[in-house]
Formats: sequence, structure tokens, C-alpha cells
Amino acid sequence: RRVTRVQHLAQMKAEGEKWSMLTCYDYSTARIFDAAEIPVLLVGDSAANVVLGYDTTIPVTIDELIPLIRAVVRGAPHSLVVADLPFGSYEASPQQALESAVKVFKETGAHAVKLEGGERVADQIATLTAAGIPVMAHIGFTPQSVNGLGGYRVQGRGDAGDQLIADAIAVQEAGAFAVVMEMVPADLAGQITRKLTIPTVGIGAGNETDAQVLVWQDMAGLTHGKTAKFVKRFGEVGTELRSAAEQYADEVRRGTFPAPEHSY
Ligand code: KIV
Ligand code: NA
Repeated sequence: RRVTRVQHLAQMKAEGEKWSMLTCYDYSTARIFDAAEIPVLLVGDSAANVVLGYDTTIPVTIDELIPLIRAVVRGAPHSLVVADLPFGSYEASPQQALESAVKVFKETGAHAVKLEGGERVADQIATLTAAGIPVMAHIGFTPQSVNGLGGYRVQGRGDAGDQLIADAIAVQEAGAFAVVMEMVPADLAGQITRKLTIPTVGIGAGNETDAQVLVWQDMAGLTHGKTAKFVKRFGEVGTELRSAAEQYADEVRRGTFPAPEHSY
């Protein structure tokens, strides 16, 4: 089986082959997704929510993400590993973005970084790309800007569609190798996908993007409470894990575990 690197994604777009991306935050899960032949794994700053228990992605730092990125790189030798640059690590200047991305590259072995924003981060994308750091952009709903955007809502409706198109073109021209579009109308996402030469990766962006991404805990049914409309649960890992934990506790309580075959 071949490895996936950034040039393969361009090739897949040229051949009209759709591909998938999942988030991933640890070694055990990385091994499973590598075996499942998921071509691209994103160590998302959504680790803030699903790994660290924060309400938003705003508090998570590069230093918190680095050990997770390293673990995913070790567990998934075939997948392209993309690392999110967290809030506060790239907005100030292209220089700040470069320092952050260089730190991630030197310390983790990730193959690319992702950052949020369109036109406003085009200079950052150009600087990283010139330094040999592949950049995945992220436009539409950008969770690090949740306070500025006024909540979790669909972006690019009506007149805002023109800005979304401008953002998509800006990140492509700056050198991004792909762009995530989050929570945008399906028709607009399709229109942008046909306009761009780089692959688009949708999350809540309909069925006409070149690729799809989901947070793995959402995809596998490990998330509790209400999830977004764009989430489909492809498994019930949470229920399965809870049941395993309950059975284990029960067998310990009843004294049936460990049995002779588990003993030395
Ligand atoms: O951090 C994340 O999980 C993401 C994806 C949802 C695109 O940025
Ligand atoms: Na993210």
C-alpha cells in the first residue's frame, strides 16, 4: 500500500477520486485509521473539545497539541498527517506563523499544517509555502473565530457567498494545497470546488466537495449530547465502550475476572 503525501491529493482531484479525512489525536486510534486506509489524518485543535474537555478550541496551545501530533505520526506511517495551528499561534504575522509551523515540523514529523481564515491569512499561507511547509486552509465557519462569528452557524449565505469565493481563491493563490470548507451551503461549496484547482474538503458543505472530513468521535458515535446536522454516526463506539467497562466492573465485583486463564 502506498503512502499519501500532498501531491497525491492533487492527483486524486485530477482523476475525480473522492477521499476522506478524519481527525486523530493518539497512537492507538492512528493505527486503526492507518489500517482503514484513511489517506489524511488531521490532528485538529478540536482536541481542545474532544480530548481536553474545553468548551471551544480557543484555549488549546501548540505545546498541548505537539505530543498528540507526535503520537499520530508514529501510529499512521501511510497517512498524510496534518496538524492544526491553534488560535493565537499565527494571526499576528507571517513571521509568527512561520515560527509556529517550524516548531511543529521540527518537533513532530507532521507533513502539513492547517490554519483558519481566507484573505486575512493569505500572507501567512504564502510565507509557509515558500518555506516548504504545505498548508491546508480552512474557510467558512472557523471555530477559532466563534466569538467574532456570533456562534455556530452556516457561513456564506446570500451576499456573504462572494466573500467565501474570494477567500477560496485567495488561499489557492497563496499556495494552499487544499482547503477545508465548514458549514457552507452545498451549492456554493460545489461551485467553489469546480472553480478551484486545489482539492476542497467539506464538513457540513454538502456532497460536491472533493473530500470530506469529520471529527472521529462524532463519526464513530463517541460524542455525547447534541451533534451538528452534518454529523453521521457510522458506529456506536461510545455505547460499546461503556458496555465493556460495565461488564469489566461487574465481573470484578462478582469475582469472575480474572479467571484461571488470565492468571500466572
Ligand atoms: O479541528 C478540527 O477538527 C477541524 C476539522 C473539523 C476540519 O478543524
Ligand atoms: Na480545527
